[in-house]
Amino acid sequence: MTKKWWHDKVAYQIYPKSFLDSNGDGIGDLRGIISKLDYLKELGIDIIWLSPIYKSPFVDQGYDISDYYAIAEEFGTMEDFDELLAEAKKRDMYIIMDLVINHCSNQHEWFRKALADPDGEYADYFYFRKGKNGNPPSNYRSYFGGSCWEPVPGTDKYYLHMFAKEQPDLNWENPKLRQELYRMVNWWLEKGLAGFRIDAIINIKKNLDFPDFEPDGADGLAGCWKMVESVDGVGEFLEELKNNTLRKYDAFTVGEVFNMKEGELPQFIGENGHFSTIFDFSAHCLSDGEHGWYDAPPIDFKEWRDTIIRSQLEVQECGFEANIIENHDEPRGVSRFLPEYAQTPAGTKMLGTISIFLRGIPFIYQGQEIGMKNAVWNSIEEYDDISTRDQYHMARHAGLTDEEALRVCGKMSRDNARTPVQWNDKENAGFTTGTPWLKVNSNYREINVESQEEDEDSVLNYYRRLVKVRKSQEYKEVFTYGRFVPVYQNTDFIMAYYREDENQRILVVANFGKEDEELELKYPVKRVLLSNKNETETPEQSLKLESCEVMVLECM
Ligand code: GLC
Ligand code: CA
Repeated sequence: MTKKWWHDKVAYQIYPKSFLDSNGDGIGDLRGIISKLDYLKELGIDIIWLSPIYKSPFVDQGYDISDYYAIAEEFGTMEDFDELLAEAKKRDMYIIMDLVINHCSNQHEWFRKALADPDGEYADYFYFRKGKNGNPPSNYRSYFGGSCWEPVPGTDKYYLHMFAKEQPDLNWENPKLRQELYRMVNWWLEKGLAGFRIDAIINIKKNLDFPDFEPDGADGLAGCWKMVESVDGVGEFLEELKNNTLRKYDAFTVGEVFNMKEGELPQFIGENGHFSTIFDFSAHCLSDGEHGWYDAPPIDFKEWRDTIIRSQLEVQECGFEANIIENHDEPRGVSRFLPEYAQTPAGTKMLGTISIFLRGIPFIYQGQEIGMKNAVWNSIEEYDDISTRDQYHMARHAGLTDEEALRVCGKMSRDNARTPVQWNDKENAGFTTGTPWLKVNSNYREINVESQEEDEDSVLNYYRRLVKVRKSQEYKEVFTYGRFVPVYQNTDFIMAYYREDENQRILVVANFGKEDEELELKYPVKRVLLSNKNETETPEQSLKLESCEVMVLECM
């Protein structure tokens, strides 16, 4: 395997709107980010992924871009961005941006021109299609609910949008459009960007017949992902994108890929794959409901453990995936993956340990390093997220009461991850001197950066140690390239694995159960590298773990 510059890096996702507000307008911004680069450096971060900061009407919080070459005023200016790049560089840090090219905003110049002349050149930048017998061209439900087709005013045509109607899908079949996109990607890479997180990218290949599918919900529609799964050939687009842009810059790319087909992993992340890496969402998919959040199954520990193990074993045969507990589309991991008794600092550290030492590129999501949790939401009006509002209505439609539907959203809402970062115990958690655009989690007095900075034993300081051990000269090699070997799989509550190469063997072992556990050690232990209960004594023969205890041990 050829070694790549990004293999041993640790990444951090910033959701700019909620990170830190520097000018009191209630919205996080680039100057806020610049002021926290040292904080991120101290955490051991190498790569920073910024969720979209491009000009946007923010219907889907910036994932609806109206100008790919401009910074949203809310976040600052291009000068601020250049400064961020320069300041990151000074600290040996890399910036990657979100690349949202499956769709743009309906306010983008291309779409406005297309609407103005529905038979003209720009209409072909999108999917404009005639309806069928007074109905839309097909029966697809968009990811955010409702039909994927929206009428083009003054015509008998519709345009396709797999997300909100304000996010028209771009027609990748049109070579002119593709060239425009490549030009834009190169423009950012020229500026010094290290790469991209590539949004919703699997959706760019459409089945141009747009066939109907068996309806799968009360609305009589069928999930649009079925169309995506019915077609081959996305790889050709991805290779062209790579060869015209990313490859020339040795850029780091991490794809958001769902609905991959069986056996395709090597094509995506193998030695000459479409991307450097993709996110491992396998554990998150365990709470996919058949119809929506309202029938999402709870996470079962064993299933969660086996899913991660299966995925690690598969991935190491061909490349690297990016490991996450949470991101801006998911609820907080502590609230989701830990049973209630484990939603404590000890449990939080345990979950973090298991994730950070997996084989792959660790991505920490803002606030994860202090153990931020889901918020308590009292009414649907408190939410901003377009998808949460859709899921709420779907739940009501399926017969759930207001209270039940709110409980469902409280568990799954994307806004759980989007509440402002809790910097201190002052007003608005130190996020803004104004009114925050989304409410601050009410637990900010107990969970915040400032108080954790002062506490040696805090989640934050533990995360710093985690990253430090992973990146230390002594263990970097084994944590980066060492094989993942699961162990103690026949237990009910232990999640454990070795990371090993010819020279070293590290055991990462955690007790997710409520009771103490005793395990027989298979190899003698040389050294305790980490323990969330500050255990320093080297265990012999057997290992005793309390509830929520995790240890990282160097073995013979
Ligand atoms: C991705 C983003 C999500 C967004 C969607 C549409 O899934 O992560 O936040 O809503 O794409 O762009
Ligand atoms: Ca601001």
